[in-house]
Amino acid sequence: MKKVPFKVQVVNLSKTFSSGPILALQKVNLHAREGEFVSLIGPSGCGKSTLFNIIAGLLKPDEGGEIYLDGERREDRRGFSAYMPQKDLLLPWRTILDNVILGLEIQGVKKSVARKEALALFPNFGLAGFEKNYPDSLSGGMRQRAALMRTILFKKDIMLLDEPFGALDSMTRSIMQQFLLKVWEEFRKTILFVTHDIEEAIFLSDRIYVMTARPGTIKAELSVPLPRPRDPHLVTSAPFVGIKRILLDLIQEESLKAFEEMSVVRCPSSVGLPDSVSNPPQNP
Ligand SMILES: Nc1ncnc2c1ncn2[C@@H]1O[C@H](COP(=O)(O)OP(=O)(O)OP(=O)(O)O)[C@@H](O)[C@H]1O
Ligand SMILES: [Mg+2]
Repeated sequence: MKKVPFKVQVVNLSKTFSSGPILALQKVNLHAREGEFVSLIGPSGCGKSTLFNIIAGLLKPDEGGEIYLDGERREDRRGFSAYMPQKDLLLPWRTILDNVILGLEIQGVKKSVARKEALALFPNFGLAGFEKNYPDSLSGGMRQRAALMRTILFKKDIMLLDEPFGALDSMTRSIMQQFLLKVWEEFRKTILFVTHDIEEAIFLSDRIYVMTARPGTIKAELSVPLPRPRDPHLVTSAPFVGIKRILLDLIQEESLKAFEEMSVVRCPSSVGLPDSVSNPPQNP
């Protein structure tokens, strides 16, 4: 039988930013199969957004790293994936409707056709009635939903979602998670998803990669063998809680490392001591 190639495969990928210089990523290896939902979780600053920028083709990795899409090594990856960056990047001079059709327009779809298609989705995203508003007049959560709608309308097989629900309250977040799963199950996209929220990662994913503190590399990979479709009540089940416990331990270790590193940068002579002890006020 012919082996199906991974939809996305990252091999030995490193990234050094010349300012500093900062080694952001170090020999990252990961993959996503076609139709798989894969999450990345790791401490702030470990290089998750950098990795997405590289996969989307917006940044160049260091020499030696390789990225395969649909089994082929790609140097120019622009246009292969629908990317929702961490910042929503809505264009302030366009209405929400015209913001969400951007991808379709770039692909040459007539504006009237694109608008018709997009308008049908507004109620699903809780944005009905806001079609003609400008981004400035929307809350952070509404802007994120608009950005997600735009990403889905890009209609690419691969979706890169960088903390798409980070600014949402927990109720809206839960509704959007279920909505995203519905879209994913219907269209069978391959999704790479960044989140800080462990429960969100478990609820949504087939597999989860845990990254180390900077320089980011893959520390662990966990399968999530929970049945689908996933019901919100699943979060209190024993298997869910078991996976959560493993992830919490892995992440706690890395978050402490990241925090210690920050402390070293701020006050090199006082590692391990709380600020109040190590940095007494100079002018009491
Ligand atoms: N354009 C850049 N120039 C220099 N350094 C950068 C640049 N972009 C990111 N970095 C550095 O690379 C590291 C990784 O940043 P990145 O934004 O990828 O982290 P992250 O894991 O997405 O963090 P967060 O969870 O806070 O979003 C950080 O130390 C950051 O300061
Ligand atoms: Mg980020």
